[in-house]
Parts: sequence; C-alpha cells; structure tokens
Amino acid sequence: MAIQLAAAAGVEVTATASPSAEERLRSLGAAEVIDYHDPAWPARAQGGFDAALIAAPGTAVTALPLIRDRGHLCSLTSDAPHPERGITSTNLYVRPDPAQLNRLTIDLAQGLLRLTHEPLPLTAGPVAFERVTAGRTAGQKLVLIP
Ligand SMILES: NC(=O)c1ccc[n+]([C@@H]2O[C@H](COP(=O)([O-])OP(=O)(O)OC[C@H]3O[C@@H](n4cnc5c(N)ncnc54)[C@H](OP(=O)(O)O)[C@@H]3O)[C@@H](O)[C@H]2O)c1
Repeated sequence: MAIQLAAAAGVEVTATASPSAEERLRSLGAAEVIDYHDPAWPARAQGGFDAALIAAPGTAVTALPLIRDRGHLCSLTSDAPHPERGITSTNLYVRPDPAQLNRLTIDLAQGLLRLTHEPLPLTAGPVAFERVTAGRTAGQKLVLIP
C-alpha cells in the first residue's frame, strides 16, 4: 500500500525485498527493487534518498545513512533512530481516521489502489497468525471468514 500511495503521489520508489517479490512490487509502482539479503545492498542503493519508510524491524539504522541531509525517516516498527544531519526521524502508528479510511476505500473501489486478499475459514486463525507474525503472507491480507 505504501508503494502504491507513494507512486501515485509522483514519488520514485526504491524498495528492498526478496527477489521473489520483485515483480509484484514493480507492478505496484516500485521503480527499483533491491534484494536486502545481499549484505552489500546499502551500497547498491547508493543513497541520497529524500525519505525512507521503515517496514522491517531493525532496519532503520541501516537506512538512515542512505537519506540525504534534511530528509525524512518514518518507521512503522518503533525503531526510529536518533536524528542526524537535520533528518526528521519519527515513529508512525496506526490510528482510527474515518476520513483517511474513506479515501482509501474509494481508491480501492475505483481500482486506483490494489489490495490482494486471501480468504480463510475462521478455524485457520492460528495458522494465519503464525504466517502474519513470520512475514509469510506474500503481501496479501488474510481475511478470516466465519
Ligand atoms: N506502526 C504501526 O502502527 C504498525 C501497524 C501494523 C504493522 N506494523 C509493523 O509494520 C511492519 C510491516 O508490516 P507487514 O505486515 O508488512 O510485515 P511483513 O509481512 O513481515 O513484511 C515485512 C516485509 O519487509 C520486507 N523487507 C524489506 N526490507 C527488508 C529488510 N531489510 N529486512 C527484512 N525484511 C525486509 C520483507 O520482504 P520479503 O517478504 O520480500 O522478504 C517482508 O515481507 C511489521 O513489523 C509490523 O509489526 C506497524
């Protein structure tokens, strides 16, 4: 969702991911996809980014040097580092916001945003929980249906 929203706003997105996710992330709007399993990935990313959105725990410290002076870092994983070089460094948490949810719903209904989901029976709840916590959802939202 972050890639889609950023690309729709005209942002040139570089994403880190596993090679198996590259095609999916490019189809969502990523201009570049870098394999983070390669220990040299920060050098390959080259740096100078205006901003970084952190969506994998513990990766903010690695991303910080890749951001230009007075850029922005926003972490979804509660690990925003101490700011340096005038970079703003903040943690972001979900909060109920009817106006934003309404906008996302309209964008989804109109096909401007894509969100794939996998329906599962309610009894699959424990398995779904394991997959979500292990990061094995392949970008899909798991929906439990009674
Ligand atoms: N702040 C909040 O309010 C809030 C709310 C909900 C969730 N969260 C947190 O946000 C994070 C993202 O959620 P999610 O559901 O998208 O989690 P997820 O399914 O575990 O996805 C994280 C993805 O990060 C990718 N990744 C990219 N760079 C990485 C790197 N350098 N090291 C490790 N992984 C890397 C992995 O891609 P590949 O699969 O391609 O390897 C993985 O799929 C989670 O930690 C979650 O706890 C925060």
